[in-house]
Amino acid sequence: MKKIGIVGFGYIGRYIFEHLKQNDEISVEAIWEPIAEKTVGLDQKIICKSLEELGTRPLDLIVEAAHADVVKELWLLITSGADLMISSVTSFSDKKFRDEMEQKAKKSGQKVYLPHGAILGLDGLRDGRALLESVAITTTKHPKNLGMLDSKITKPEVIFKGTTLEACKKFPRNVNVHAAIALAGLGFDNTESVVIADANTNKMQHRIEVKGQGLNWNLEIESFSAGAVTGSYTPASLYNSLLTVLSERNVFQIV
Ligand SMILES: NC(=O)c1ccc[n+]([C@@H]2O[C@H](COP(=O)([O-])OP(=O)(O)OC[C@H]3O[C@@H](n4cnc5c(N)ncnc54)[C@H](O)[C@@H]3O)[C@@H](O)[C@H]2O)c1
Repeated sequence: MKKIGIVGFGYIGRYIFEHLKQNDEISVEAIWEPIAEKTVGLDQKIICKSLEELGTRPLDLIVEAAHADVVKELWLLITSGADLMISSVTSFSDKKFRDEMEQKAKKSGQKVYLPHGAILGLDGLRDGRALLESVAITTTKHPKNLGMLDSKITKPEVIFKGTTLEACKKFPRNVNVHAAIALAGLGFDNTESVVIADANTNKMQHRIEVKGQGLNWNLEIESFSAGAVTGSYTPASLYNSLLTVLSERNVFQIV
């Protein structure tokens, strides 16, 4: 039986928990969620009182589904040796944190998994890395899915154009796919990010344009908006990536 912990019991965390109820090979042994009402009715044995408590519980893998700031804190608090699968990929735009992560992982043997989340193609990008010349990603979402709750935007409007590093600082909850593309491809300084707010869409659209030696790729990925920041495909994608990781099949492993 594999033992897992979940950090953040929102749209993604709850989805994973509910789907694992039917699984007799994986057991959720710990949950850390600061809003207590969200975990009412669950077996109190699995509810942790702090992130630190979750980090000490004997677990095989912890799934982070909370916020980019939590990832950094969590990684350093894990004393149990558990591996980590992260949803909040923008956390890796912080080079100091990436270095700390690698150092700790080298010593402890822990693994950190980068699930493909809302998009596709990370494996192809990583495998073609030596050939890549330019990578750009354009995301179009409704203003409310970009955290712009009082937006007056009526027509589609480019609200950001710059490096993925800057996009992650500006939209830590909304450009996880940009961070994943940067990690797999040319890095945070050399990937171009464009964010468009469109009040007339209920979709989350990502257009990924890659050029390189002997290649020219255009990927268009759309899913329907479901959570505040999450599209309808993402929870299913993360859940199945979790199953893949725990079954020790071939996965995108970053450390
Ligand atoms: N990789 C991807 O493709 C992808 C796609 C969509 C969303 N995401 C990211 O996944 C994460 C979860 O998304 P969601 O839709 O489930 O969000 P959500 O808002 O529904 O849930 C997040 C939960 O985390 C909790 N939380 C906040 N601070 C916390 C902390 N310090 N410790 C523990 N829990 C904390 C919140 O109370 C909330 O219950 C977000 O960071 C989101 O940006 C990633």
